[in-house]
Amino acid sequence: MTETVTMDKIVAFCKRRGFVYQSSEIYGGIRSSYDYGPLGIEMKRNIKEEWWRRTVHMRDDVVGLDAAIIMHPKVWEASGHLSGFNDMLVESRSSKRRYRADHLIEDATGMEVEGLSPEKLTEIIDHDDRIKDPVDGGRDFAPVRPFNLMFETYTGPVKAPENVVYLRPETAQGMFVNFKNVLQTSRVKVPFGIAQMGKSFRNEITPGNFIFRTREFEQMELEFFVEPGTDEEWFEYWLGERWNWYTSLGLNRENLRRYEHPQDKLSHYSKRTVDIEYYFPFRGWSELEGIANRTDYDLKQHAAFSGENLTYFDQATGQSYVPYVIEPAGGPDRMMLAFLVDAYNEEEVRGETRTVLKLHPRLAPIKAAVLPLTKKEPVASVARDLYGELKGDYRVFYDDSGAIGRRYRRQDEAGTPFCVTVDFDTLEDKQVTVRDRDTMEQERIPIDAVRERLRARIYG
Ligand code: GAP
Repeated sequence: MTETVTMDKIVAFCKRRGFVYQSSEIYGGIRSSYDYGPLGIEMKRNIKEEWWRRTVHMRDDVVGLDAAIIMHPKVWEASGHLSGFNDMLVESRSSKRRYRADHLIEDATGMEVEGLSPEKLTEIIDHDDRIKDPVDGGRDFAPVRPFNLMFETYTGPVKAPENVVYLRPETAQGMFVNFKNVLQTSRVKVPFGIAQMGKSFRNEITPGNFIFRTREFEQMELEFFVEPGTDEEWFEYWLGERWNWYTSLGLNRENLRRYEHPQDKLSHYSKRTVDIEYYFPFRGWSELEGIANRTDYDLKQHAAFSGENLTYFDQATGQSYVPYVIEPAGGPDRMMLAFLVDAYNEEEVRGETRTVLKLHPRLAPIKAAVLPLTKKEPVASVARDLYGELKGDYRVFYDDSGAIGRRYRRQDEAGTPFCVTVDFDTLEDKQVTVRDRDTMEQERIPIDAVRERLRARIYG
């Protein structure tokens, strides 16, 4: 990664190359909403695909689920989200801006105040002159109050209190409420997991940092059910697995670390939480994913609120228990920002700046570009045939316009790991040139061998 990578640079790059656009841009945009463009959607799908492949397909002990976004409102009573899924909000009376009180205090004083009560936060703000409205420097703040982050809406035509429902703020609860269904309909035995990916919604007071924190985002969560007493061991196991997932996809180890949540700051359901953090040059160490030991909290809550028996009967031992849950929870939007920042490079090549995304081939939006040296026949037909052969396997790009050097640069920016050039010699020797994005080295190989060679280098 180059030293110069800034948020502005990444945002501009993402727009210019069709990775991410501001949502509703022709209307002036809407804050905190983004759309994934042609390259962005390919990359995001690859991240999700890699997560699903490694978390579900490659394992015997995890099954998938796709639960509804709108769930029974009681789910959120049981989970504690209705009463406790709050951020502390403070309003500046002079600018009318609203801020997260903990962020306002932390930014001004460096104090760690997460988890403090509204009264305590109000007292700190009232007494510490360093805390000012970032917009106008004023110090006229209303008392801090909790603000629930769930988006509320109504089902059916009548906007009445009994029809209130919520957009899910996490995918996790879908797994807990389906625990019994999955047990009864698939041949799983504890220890086993249920995995899900999909949209979640949080009415964040201060979204920001591009796709790092938005109000509508995707999550990829695994709820792994284990016998109580084995939970600590499984926690370590999943921490290792998730760490290895990031590094195996090329994320620079130096930009990754683990952050152990202090005992007194843990969520109400957690016995232990460790975040995998990434060092973003524009915001420092930040959570990519959290691994939590959720104990038997959620299953017990749902059993109590629904009246269903959510215990597990272990046929081998004849014992019944409520399983503990280890939860690795991440999100592809935030991961995508990390992978992009990590891969973004500007290099000097023969007196020119080359922008290159050194993405792992599995994550690259386009895996290969086929570049005929001329638009004329018969070179063009040979190139088209090769393009047709490769495009059934993954996303391939065909580009026959402009100087070859410029075409290489376009693919470097898109993160395409391989460019295959078809030239006049190909007609004679039946060989093509394969150029490696990172080393820029070129290798001449038989055209018949391209498909296998690329497959091995992308997925090997
Ligand atoms: N079920 C546990 C849970 O939801 P979380 O730490 O609140 O835990 C898990 O969220 C992950 O979801 C985060 O690590 C992050 O990757 C992603 N995430 C959470 N809020 C987000 C937001 N507002 N925008 C983008 N991603 C978010």
